[in-house]
Amino acid sequence: MKNIGRFPSLRMRRNRKADWIRRLVSEHNLSANDLILPLFVKEGIKKKENIDSMPNVFRYSIDELARVVERACKLGIPLIALFPYTDQKKKDPKGKEAVNKNNLICKALRYLKKEFKNDIGIMCDVALDPYTNHGHDGIIKDNKIDNDLTIEILIKQSLLQAEMKCDIIAPSDMMDGRIGKIRTALDSKGFKDTQLVSYAVKYASNFYGPFRDAVGSKKKLKGDKKTYQMDFRNTNEALREVALDVNEGADIVMVKPGLPYLDIIRVVKDNFKLPVFSYQVSGEYALIKNGIKKGIISEEAILESLISLKRSGSNAIVSYFSIDVANQLK
Ligand code: PBG
Repeated sequence: MKNIGRFPSLRMRRNRKADWIRRLVSEHNLSANDLILPLFVKEGIKKKENIDSMPNVFRYSIDELARVVERACKLGIPLIALFPYTDQKKKDPKGKEAVNKNNLICKALRYLKKEFKNDIGIMCDVALDPYTNHGHDGIIKDNKIDNDLTIEILIKQSLLQAEMKCDIIAPSDMMDGRIGKIRTALDSKGFKDTQLVSYAVKYASNFYGPFRDAVGSKKKLKGDKKTYQMDFRNTNEALREVALDVNEGADIVMVKPGLPYLDIIRVVKDNFKLPVFSYQVSGEYALIKNGIKKGIISEEAILESLISLKRSGSNAIVSYFSIDVANQLK
């Protein structure tokens, strides 16, 4: 930057002297349009259950879930993301419950799509971890997560969700080649308008703990997910992952987690001109929430964290703070 002036004729503080001018020159702003609300579903009626590691986040039975979705609609949140808390008895090595027409996600989709039509979008995860008794996202064969075997069931899971009128299918499993296979399967069955959000850049992160608690896979998980989720030391690999998924037909890509990966969001945005979502994950949520609860940081840290994700190039952010923030922005 040349000729930008110099002190004392130039004083940067002039443009910060009052709230009205700060608002006028602000470069990045957040609105409800930027927010995606993740929600946990469980069996039963009139259930609203605490999650130990995530203060103020709950597992809802479908009837209660509908009330939250209605609130999200009224606040102008465009999209929710559903995750199931599957009964432990229904978990098995192959995650068969994932392709049961009457599993929690299918029931929730039928209910919510009938109730809310197109007033709000619904995104569903495609991965096996909420359904397997070992907590992995794929099927284990010879002590390894078998890529191609896993894809076969992910295709079925995707088709089932599409049939239940899910708007966006979001594979979060990190198997190679699944985006192309799922796109082809969806097209061959006439689901040409069902979108694919690929969790293209998903790191094997230490920030997912509370989520695993929320879907009941934490105690089950044997080992780690490093043979399929990405190594957090890598940047170029993120670009290759995105390139592949874009070629295979992803409409939107996701970077996850959020705050520790702002640089990655930026390089993805600069290199691919397509919508990028980021995910402020459960561990990030819990840290900020607990910091506020203990009075260590102020409530405004929430907005700051979300705006930093926007500034880095995210078009929208999956955040457990979505309802609170949308309320505040109103
Ligand atoms: C798994 C999945 C995970 C999250 C979303 N989908 C966890 C994992 O990979 O173990 C994490 C979300 C969060 O931490 O908020 N398919």
